[in-house]
Amino acid sequence: MQTHEIRRRFLDHFVKAGHTEVPSASLILADPNLLFVNAGMVPFVPYFLGQQTPPYTRATSVQKCVRTLDIEEVGKTTRHNTFFQMAGNFSFGDYFKEEAITFAWSLLTGSVEDGGYGIDPEKLWATVYLDDDEAYSIWRDKVGVPDERIQRRGMKDNYWSMGIPGPCGPCSEIFYDRGPAYGVEGGPEADEDRYIEIWNLVFMQNERGEGGAKDDYPILGPLPKKNIDTGMGVERVAFLLQGVENVYETDLLRPVIEKATELTGAVYGATHDDDVRFRVIADHARTAAMLIVDGVNPGNDGRGYVLRRLLRRIVRSARLLGADKPTMREFMAVVRDTMAPSYPELATDFSRVETVAVGEETAFLKTLGTGSKLFEGAVETVKSQGRNVLGGTEAFTLHDTYGFPIDLTLEMASEAGLTVDEEGFRSLMAEQRQRAKDDARARKHAHADLTVYKELLDRGPTEFTGFSELVSEAHVLAVITGR
Ligand code: ALA
Repeated sequence: MQTHEIRRRFLDHFVKAGHTEVPSASLILADPNLLFVNAGMVPFVPYFLGQQTPPYTRATSVQKCVRTLDIEEVGKTTRHNTFFQMAGNFSFGDYFKEEAITFAWSLLTGSVEDGGYGIDPEKLWATVYLDDDEAYSIWRDKVGVPDERIQRRGMKDNYWSMGIPGPCGPCSEIFYDRGPAYGVEGGPEADEDRYIEIWNLVFMQNERGEGGAKDDYPILGPLPKKNIDTGMGVERVAFLLQGVENVYETDLLRPVIEKATELTGAVYGATHDDDVRFRVIADHARTAAMLIVDGVNPGNDGRGYVLRRLLRRIVRSARLLGADKPTMREFMAVVRDTMAPSYPELATDFSRVETVAVGEETAFLKTLGTGSKLFEGAVETVKSQGRNVLGGTEAFTLHDTYGFPIDLTLEMASEAGLTVDEEGFRSLMAEQRQRAKDDARARKHAHADLTVYKELLDRGPTEFTGFSELVSEAHVLAVITGR
């Protein structure tokens, strides 16, 4: 089943059950606490918290999401995408656990002729939060999942929040068993590569406070109402229903891999390292296009840095695969062709997407040129000293200042008959990562409370009259100090 069809069936299923279809919000919301929208529920947070009244009690959406924490995992595992689509159904004080579970089950296992996904119920497992007997008995007694395919898990896996203060609650996840060829028996507790999480049902009933780890934050108390927030990973369902091996080989990303084989001359499926590079290109090209179309430009910090990093990883992966000419324009065009049926802005705004992506590619290719000179100078020095190891500091500078990935440095060093002090390089990288972590922790503690701004938004729009008048009368709604 094509990905666009999976999306459509999801929305139709929930619209039929009385939900209002809400279009995806931009990846960039005006919230300084979030780099990007990273879950389907993000645009609805004020409704869960009771700060705003929703215009509906049931909603459904397919939300664009970006998560880049696991960027190094992309291409190496079966299931890490930096951009993905989260299909969700939401109840704002309306239905709760039983309907959330049965709605999900009927879509997953309903026949294809009747609008479902036609998944064999025997392949599905459910997890519930430790003491959530209610969810457990719904799965067993109402849905008919046998005890041996329901697992209880702790806070780390089955209690969900956005990672920052806000709504939270216990959750119940649905997993798909890919079969014995993919890992050991024993359900998601035993192996999350064989058992792939496809849908998370969050029983959103509490509010959480500040805290670091996934299972270590205070629960401040109940939300005004009991809500439902669910998220089904469209890319994951697509890869399972399409019978391919991972999220990079579905109908939406495989064409980028095909284009990369054409442009680089390398073969997909030949070596593990090259396959990872192909998948990085496919994943990142799509994420970059989606970010640019939502208004992000490459830069040196925040959102701009994420985009820059993605684009540079594409350039160097293509180069390592053997590309000797620019490739970005072609990759972006393939992303447009595959994604525009669901995101028409990629077609209408394509010239901007192309200009920004190709501009970064051109600049980075130049940087790579300069870095190569530094590299050659370092090689000459090493050789003139009769040594055959390039120092960790040189490798780190090439990485940090010139954007050279270590694998590129290793490859070029080996072509020059040298090895690289990888240990020295890695310890400098570890130091840098620690600095970044400390910085992120400092930012987390500086969580910005936006409640007061949101309340003001609720009081209606503020009209800007400065284009036509020099003097206007207005009411001051509030004066905010000390923020
Ligand atoms: N908000 C939940 C998640 O992102 C559904 O997993």
